[in-house]
Amino acid sequence: MKRALIPFAIVLLALAALADDELKTDPVGYAPAQPIAYSHKTHLALGLKCNVCHAMKPTEAGEGFAMGFPKESFCMGCHTTIKKDSPEIAKLAKAAADKKAVEWVRVYRLMPIVWFNHAAHTQTAKIACATCHGDLAAMPVTTKARLLNMKDCMDCHAERGAPNGCDFCHASQ
Ligand code: HEC
Ligand code: HEC
Ligand code: HEC
Ligand code: HEC
Ligand code: HEC
Repeated sequence: MKRALIPFAIVLLALAALADDELKTDPVGYAPAQPIAYSHKTHLALGLKCNVCHAMKPTEAGEGFAMGFPKESFCMGCHTTIKKDSPEIAKLAKAAADKKAVEWVRVYRLMPIVWFNHAAHTQTAKIACATCHGDLAAMPVTTKARLLNMKDCMDCHAERGAPNGCDFCHASQ
């Protein structure tokens, strides 16, 4: 995996170009309305595991690893029969028929100047999903459980002996 380092002055230039809403950290408890009323609580109670719906794969930029979102056709494996008359499932069925990904509203957002990689955390450092994302099995609506701002990231890195140099998290993407 390669990661080009950029001088910090360029980070500052990139920051100046960001829109206001990209410059704030969403608070803990942030729970934006979603296009379809999906519930982790309902689905995790069925015994489904995270990786069935969130398969870790390299990002399009080819650096870092994202968890991604499940395909609508996968959801329809159950919902062609389960609750098929529900208006929420009708929206899902339409997306699957049109082969159009549902536009889920992101709950965890980082400024574009931040470099994050799931694999380093979940595989190398063996940190549980719940350490950063909370107990999703208790959430009917996906809700931000941890701040994950710069201080929060750096505090854990200090505790765990992971590097904390500026370029470590602010590398070019
Ligand atoms: C060290 C903290 C941390 C851990 C552990 C972690 N995540 Fe994340 N997760 C994040 C951050 C930060 C983002 C936002 C990343 C971004 O916007 O670039 C995120 C984003 C996501 C997203 C949105 C899509 C994406 O890939 O950006 C999903 C889905 C997700 N995480 C699922 C999981 C699952 C499943 C696990 C366990 C296998 C997990 N996460 C473990 C911090 C973490
Ligand atoms: C393993 C089968 C299964 C899969 C896969 C599945 N669901 Fe479900 N889903 C269910 C069950 C069971 C219920 C609860 C039905 C009930 O309340 O009687 C449910 C309920 C729902 C509801 C609530 C419907 C209503 O009106 O009450 C929505 C919305 C939903 N699922 C969306 C999704 C989405 C989106 C996906 C894919 C990310 C998905 N489901 C994948 C089994 C599944
Ligand atoms: C049946 C499929 C399914 C399973 C199983 C599932 N998720 Fe999700 N997950 C979704 C869908 C659909 C969304 C988008 C809607 C939402 O945010 O509620 C989502 C959103 C998320 C997000 C918010 C990402 C962002 O930045 O917007 C996180 C974090 C997450 N899931 C973590 C997990 C973890 C951890 C597990 C296992 C404990 C898990 N999920 C199991 C379907 C699933
Ligand atoms: C709960 C503790 C914890 C939190 C929270 C955390 N990290 Fe980490 N992170 C680690 C550990 C431990 C490693 C070292 C993994 C290894 O041994 O390579 C690491 C590694 C990394 C790496 C190196 C990836 C690579 O491939 O070299 C980056 C970049 C990173 N973290 C960014 C972040 C960012 C950005 C955040 C906040 C959004 C964050 N981390 C939050 C514990 C954490
Ligand atoms: C462990 C990861 C990590 C390290 C190391 C790190 N940062 Fe950050 N930094 C972040 C995250 C995460 C954000 C964005 C938080 C968000 O998206 O809300 C951020 C945001 C910023 C911002 C944007 C302004 C703001 O509102 O905070 C600046 C400037 C910045 N960092 C400078 C630095 C400097 C200087 C260093 C070295 C002393 C550094 N960062 C080291 C993770 C890190």
